Amino acid sequence: MNRSVLDLRFCSLLVGCSLLTIGCRSELPVDFEENLVHAKKWELQSGASMDQVVEDSQWALDKLFGFPDEPKLPDSFGEDEDLKTLVSLEHLQAASGSDLDEGRGLYRQHCGRCHGISGNGRGEAAALVEPYPRDFRPGIFKFKSTTRASKPLKSDLTRTIKYGLAGTSMVPEYQLPDGKVGPLPDDVIEKLVDYVIYLSIRGETERALLDEAAMELDLEGGERLIDPSLETSDAEAFQEQWELIEEVVAEIGGSWLDAEDEVVEIEIPADLPVPASHEELVTMLAGDLGDALRQSIERGRELFVGTIASCSKCHGTSGRGDGQEADYDDWTKDWTTRIGLKPDDESALIPLIARGALPPRTIKPRNFEQGVFRGGERPQDLFHRLNQGIAGTPMPAVTLVPGQFEEADVWHLLNFVRSLKQPEETVVTPAAATSAATGSTDDQAIATATN
Ligand code: HEC
Ligand code: HEC
Repeated sequence: MNRSVLDLRFCSLLVGCSLLTIGCRSELPVDFEENLVHAKKWELQSGASMDQVVEDSQWALDKLFGFPDEPKLPDSFGEDEDLKTLVSLEHLQAASGSDLDEGRGLYRQHCGRCHGISGNGRGEAAALVEPYPRDFRPGIFKFKSTTRASKPLKSDLTRTIKYGLAGTSMVPEYQLPDGKVGPLPDDVIEKLVDYVIYLSIRGETERALLDEAAMELDLEGGERLIDPSLETSDAEAFQEQWELIEEVVAEIGGSWLDAEDEVVEIEIPADLPVPASHEELVTMLAGDLGDALRQSIERGRELFVGTIASCSKCHGTSGRGDGQEADYDDWTKDWTTRIGLKPDDESALIPLIARGALPPRTIKPRNFEQGVFRGGERPQDLFHRLNQGIAGTPMPAVTLVPGQFEEADVWHLLNFVRSLKQPEETVVTPAAATSAATGSTDDQAIATATN
């Protein structure tokens, strides 16, 4: 249990490698960590022990997905014409393993110290960064071109890795083989995209298997998700249990294929002034379109503080992100509010934090004075954020009201939001304020240090 964590700590002592500079280079075998938080959630709700379920599901996951040094894909992926195309085993080979092995270890070298070997968002540097690195296991992604509930396209993940997520510690500054620091080459990103999908499918399957067992089986009566000993003693009974597991995986794999049909097409209106950056907005205000743009921004401001769009409820009337400061993201709600625990009730959370949950932090609505947009600042990026909201966060999709709040108004809102950017030196960010108070490093310094 938790062998990988121990290995990493052990290795950092032995090799003396700095977790914050180069990540941990380990030749010791590492293993995927079990999702003990998810199992504990069920125990707290039903009282039945999940120990056997965790053991059985790990056995099944190893059989389906292999190990961090030796990945494989479920048989159903090889048999299905479409699933076959989802990720390439060759890419997984290169992304997995130790970075001391020639041509392998890309994930551990570049991503693992934040996202963790298992993709659980709990690498060694995770607790140092705000927001926390993404846990890929629930299969929820924020920044994509598809509908809110869908998976991202590979091109969305490519973009995230290539350009980073502005304003977070995920910056495109990686240690490259030639000793330089910069964005990863496209062929490396392609392999990592497949590996992220692999980790996400594995993690989502793990959750689904625990759910299935907790909801459908009589655990106290000794019913099992899968009994490995049946493989030799009762092949038919084993096959029946195994087919159910393969069905679960195929469905989760299929949700990644479905994303292709869920792309949101966005057309920038020809009859409205829509600057593509803050600089362009400033230039446009001084030119022929200045008046039209000023009117658009004014209309956006009305909507922003009004009751129909009600952006100010969370982002504050001045757009500084100070309207709603006590909410949490879905990765936190998943193991707190959804099972009736309060995220700020520290003692109630101890059993879950002891099993690997990161202490809850509130989610901050964006402060528009910073003019930094994680999901990209192109007009279609921002339109998508409003049109679909941001998955996994309280940021809602807009609800249009004919005659009162129409599609053109969404563009007016964007122009207003973009106009709020202030020169960097005048913006007091909550992070800067805290680090000034505590003397701790701010996000950007950590980001640089971790890369
Ligand atoms: C220094 C820490 C750090 C490193 C290194 C890092 N990330 Fe991230 N990553 C983050 C953080 C923080 C987030 C969450 C940002 C947020 O929630 O808005 C994130 C989010 C993501 C997401 C989710 C994007 C979405 O749409 O929700 C993906 C995918 C991702 N990272 C992949 C990678 C890959 C692949 C690598 C290695 C090439 C990597 N990251 C390296 C910190 C890091
Ligand atoms: C219920 C609270 C809530 C409401 C209402 C809300 N937002 Fe947000 N918004 C958020 C949160 C939280 C985030 C940060 C999400 C994250 O961490 O990625 C956010 C992020 C954003 C972003 C940043 C996107 C990026 O790429 O960084 C924009 C732009 C935005 N909101 C605009 C709006 C506008 C315009 C409205 C009104 C139509 C609105 N929001 C209403 C909570 C809200």
